[in-house]
Amino acid sequence: MKSILLFLTVITLFSCDKMKPKSEKMSKKVVIAHRGASGYLPEHTMEAKAMAHAMNVDFIEQDLVLSKDDVPIVIHDIYLDDVTDVVTKFAERKRKDGRFYVIDFTFEELKTLQATERFNPKTGEQFYKKRFPKGLGNFKLHSLEEELQLIKGLNKSKGKNIGIYPEIKEPEFHKKEGKKLTEIVLKILSDYGYKTKTDNCILQCFDAKELERIRKELKSELFLVQLMEFPEETKQLTHFATYADGIGPWYKLILSEIVDEKHTFTSLVSDAHQLGLKVHPYTFRADQLAEFSSFEEMMQVLLIEANVDGAFTDFPDLMVDFLDN
Ligand code: G3P
Ligand code: CA
Repeated sequence: MKSILLFLTVITLFSCDKMKPKSEKMSKKVVIAHRGASGYLPEHTMEAKAMAHAMNVDFIEQDLVLSKDDVPIVIHDIYLDDVTDVVTKFAERKRKDGRFYVIDFTFEELKTLQATERFNPKTGEQFYKKRFPKGLGNFKLHSLEEELQLIKGLNKSKGKNIGIYPEIKEPEFHKKEGKKLTEIVLKILSDYGYKTKTDNCILQCFDAKELERIRKELKSELFLVQLMEFPEETKQLTHFATYADGIGPWYKLILSEIVDEKHTFTSLVSDAHQLGLKVHPYTFRADQLAEFSSFEEMMQVLLIEANVDGAFTDFPDLMVDFLDN
């Protein structure tokens, strides 16, 4: 009798485990807070991340660039002059091309800067006119570690398990500067418990060589997403599937022509799905609709009709509401 019970238990456990998705979260459409809740607060500030967390997203994004003293900073570009007041505080530190680089400043120096809503460094004009007013507030840049601590703390105090979605920015530039951005980031992620595909962390990169190196040479077991920008890259899908778990295409790579007032699609999503790749397009913005008449329509067409597996958005609350309903 005992042995029959044991046999049945083993069979049940085995079949349950087989049926379980790799990560439960990845079996539904995921909302990725692009640079935090950046439609409402300056991008990549701690405030924008806390707000995104409160919106109950699935993942919060971190774009990563190294400081002079090798601290990964959460910032979208290798430049500082379109999201901070670096020009007024360190006027003499610009390079020959007139730009101010994160990599030329120590973490301590970066902390003295005021972060603000994105603007055109040539004209000073705010990029997204209806968003948080440029120059208002007291926002700062921060490190990857500081953000991981914020998310860890909020996950505990709110009883949630919101994931992270870090991006290795411009690996070639970092290499030329003699920096090991990827290795430093992987070490920090591992120190904070992000090591495998079930650890609620998706690592992304536009540079295919670097992402392949992360899997094959650096032996990362994280969930990897290959970012894509150009139509030619869609020919590489089979190769991407040899090291990546998903793709993050510009959403326009999914759209084809409009026929009888209806959007039609390229084969990108179904091709990716056939290869077992998840598809997380970027970037859904309620204040930059282009070919759509409303944000609702954009979400309906891409999330539902095109059947992607999630998306990056500056307006996470709207996407969470849309998917909930
Ligand atoms: O990383 C995906 C999404 O963020 C698009 O890229 O340029 O906004 O970092 P970017
Ligand atoms: Ca990004």
